[in-house]
Amino acid sequence: GMFLSDHLSVNAQGHLLIGCHDAVDLAHQYGTPLYVLNEDYMRERCREYKEQMAEFYPGESLALFASKALCTMHTARITCEEGLGADVVSGGEIYTLVKAGFPMEKVFFHGNNKTPDEIALALDSGVGYIVIDHESELYRVDQAAAERGIIQKILFRIKPGIDCHTHEYVKTGQIDCKFGLALETGEAEKILRASASLQHVHAEGVHCHIGSQIFETEPFCEAARRMLDLMSRVRDVLSLHILNLGGGFGIRYGENDDPPPLKEYLCRLSDTIKRTCCDLGMPLPMLLLEPGRAIVGEAGVTLYTVGAVKLIPGIRTYVSVDGGMGDNPRYILYGAKHPAVLANRAGEEPAGPVTIAGKCCESGDLIAENVPLPQVHEGDILAVLCTGAYNYSMASHYNRLPRPAMIALRGEQSIPVIRRETWADLTAMDIL
Ligand code: LLP
Repeated sequence: GMFLSDHLSVNAQGHLLIGCHDAVDLAHQYGTPLYVLNEDYMRERCREYKEQMAEFYPGESLALFASKALCTMHTARITCEEGLGADVVSGGEIYTLVKAGFPMEKVFFHGNNKTPDEIALALDSGVGYIVIDHESELYRVDQAAAERGIIQKILFRIKPGIDCHTHEYVKTGQIDCKFGLALETGEAEKILRASASLQHVHAEGVHCHIGSQIFETEPFCEAARRMLDLMSRVRDVLSLHILNLGGGFGIRYGENDDPPPLKEYLCRLSDTIKRTCCDLGMPLPMLLLEPGRAIVGEAGVTLYTVGAVKLIPGIRTYVSVDGGMGDNPRYILYGAKHPAVLANRAGEEPAGPVTIAGKCCESGDLIAENVPLPQVHEGDILAVLCTGAYNYSMASHYNRLPRPAMIALRGEQSIPVIRRETWADLTAMDIL
């Protein structure tokens, strides 16, 4: 079809449909800017991970939703209902999951600098696994668990030394990286061995995350081989049975994006893991993956109302919307490309490329460039696609813009899941 995701279409009036919902009606009913999350589509992605991991990986498996992509009580509820676990990276994410009633034993706590308060919250709320990032944290977690008289299950964050093709800021697997324990230097093996003598932590497995928006399967396979090799090297002191390969599975932001289907990642990974385990004479580990973007990215659409339209002859046309880098910082941070369509005339032929600008006082505040749109007028509704991941979760109050509301689409219903912030909310923390 004309859209990249199959939950988007155009109705007889020429309006964009998200699932069965008229985007123009949603904009009028809830106001703009508005985050729209197609919950049905998100649930389908959860099921896809759950079912295909079970089908194509011969051992035990679990998909964890990477909360950082979109952490709300609503998303926590959905992923929990779909039987996924979760990865979290802060006390705030832990708190959100607890409040949503998430089964905390299926939660994995990451982070390169967990604070004492966060470690305490994790232990007190029954977080299943803490992913140890560095040596001193190992001892701090052991100590905190001892104080509570418990044994905390842990994984180890490893940097497998893999350089994959993605944006510099979202690369994480290479040696020059703030996350995790190095393989090459022997650091990882040393700390894994040290953990064996501690009384209040129990080592269950290893974790790595090689980057984000990755379209290749081989870096995941290479990571798996290196991690299994490490697991086998320490088996005289630790019986590690969990292999967590992180997230990073790419999605389609544009026509040139062509990520392999999940099945392909899984089949190649399964083959690699089976063969490597066989060579090393070890049992198949439990496989964990941590998709974030692949679960919610395409499920999200942001609706804006068009304001100023500024034609600069011979240069370009700026179409300004009532949001911007505050609700979607991905362009200014990464030069990310998001597709956009005119929701109230979605079927019309494009008149020419425009630049979509936000309303922040900063020239770099753009949402997208070279977007082919029909003639745009003030009051039109603009839909920016694939905004479910890392938009709300990275939103700011820059220029004191209140953050937008979010609604979820469930069948024929639309449900508010985050209320729109008011100007009063913006001063609520101020002390005069
Ligand atoms: N697991 C770990 C340990 C991670 O660090 C991440 C993402 C994920 C899982 C999920 O990765 P995903 O499947 O969503 O690619 N703000 C950036 C993305 C940063 C990703 C950081 N880590 C963006 O807007 O593209």
